[in-house]
Amino acid sequence: MPIRGSITLPGDKSISHRALLISSLIPGKNLIKNLATGEDVHQTLKCLNNIGIQTSQSDNILIVNGGGFKDPPKTLFCGNSGTTMRLLSGLLIGLNINAKLTGDASLLKRPMDRIINPLLNMGANIVGNDNYAPIVIKAENALKNIEYTMDIASAQVKSALLLAGIAANKKIIIHEKYITRDHTEIMLDDIGYNVNKMDNTIILEPHSKHIKNINIDIPGDISSASFFIGAACMIPNSDLRINNVLINETRMGFINMLRKMGAGIIIHNKRYVNGERVADIQTYYKPLYGINITEEDIPSVIDELPILSVIATQAEGMTIISGAEELRYKESNRIESIVFNLKNMGVKAIEKKDGFIIEGPSILNKTLIKSYDDHRIAMSFVIAGLSSGGYNDIDNIECVNSSYPEFIATLKKIIR
Ligand code: S3P
Repeated sequence: MPIRGSITLPGDKSISHRALLISSLIPGKNLIKNLATGEDVHQTLKCLNNIGIQTSQSDNILIVNGGGFKDPPKTLFCGNSGTTMRLLSGLLIGLNINAKLTGDASLLKRPMDRIINPLLNMGANIVGNDNYAPIVIKAENALKNIEYTMDIASAQVKSALLLAGIAANKKIIIHEKYITRDHTEIMLDDIGYNVNKMDNTIILEPHSKHIKNINIDIPGDISSASFFIGAACMIPNSDLRINNVLINETRMGFINMLRKMGAGIIIHNKRYVNGERVADIQTYYKPLYGINITEEDIPSVIDELPILSVIATQAEGMTIISGAEELRYKESNRIESIVFNLKNMGVKAIEKKDGFIIEGPSILNKTLIKSYDDHRIAMSFVIAGLSSGGYNDIDNIECVNSSYPEFIATLKKIIR
């Protein structure tokens, strides 16, 4: 079933969380156009409303009135969203707010020591449940400047510290293990904060100058786009154009890897919007070849590894993914959930501690997919179904609502 046509997508999820959180700090009217529509970003919005932030919607624009914080009257529920819990914790600490944060069954299994430890170094009063959520934060006036060297590659940890830094007006120096998505830095710089980057080091200075209100038009989500790009590049006769998509270099691992595999991809109309790189992406079918993906490639393709593994089944030769142990700490243990479902579809796939090996090309057999309630697993294996010439049954397709509720409706428009 080829994929053809032209589409646009809701705003990028990572940028949407940051636009909401940073807007909450800037007094006056902040305007956010094309906010992501999924439940994860909605959880961030609801949590901000619960700490006193007033918001209203006018057409496709969300208005956030910054400032006016209070302790939340109840536990803040972050749902399935690791980004909400980790970034919001940083913000609350910087603001001296007393709060408790919890989440759904999946989020309660995801490690939180990665933010708790550096925030403790900053002088925060933050306690987890044995390194997991629920997290309890108590107001603490003695926050300090910090210099922190990260032992994992995580934009969520980096952003939690930067948000604590701007909310408390402290100097923050972060040394990253590998460069991760830099939307927080770009957004802060765009509105007047003093944030500098040198190789793997980010330095946020306390602010003295005037900070502008947020007025952002969020480009389409490259991670949501990856499912359609994946379908178009591996299904013969496909030719798809996705307009107005984020092409920030820290998120381009998927496109770069596909190009290495031989995929037909053309980037049109490159431009900058609110400091972020945006373009229109055309993808068409071409024969694909297996590649090696190693640890330093992983941060820029981390969320696209489930769909990349599906594409690898249609590539000639081996695709070997290493240094991706972080996949085990996502909405599901993604190494396990990818390999389990690929094997069930008839693919030769081998699980490794830090990744997997896929042998292609492979004929995919339709089957019942175990989503592990993980949106990116569900969407990847809907696309795997198309490649088999039909539709897989997915045990909990509703989980796609975390990031992309319109996924199935949009897909139906472009299947020919
Ligand atoms: C995100 C960072 C990544 C990514 C997640 C969104 C963000 O997580 O996997 O989906 O918006 O900062 P890590 O920072 O834990 O790698």
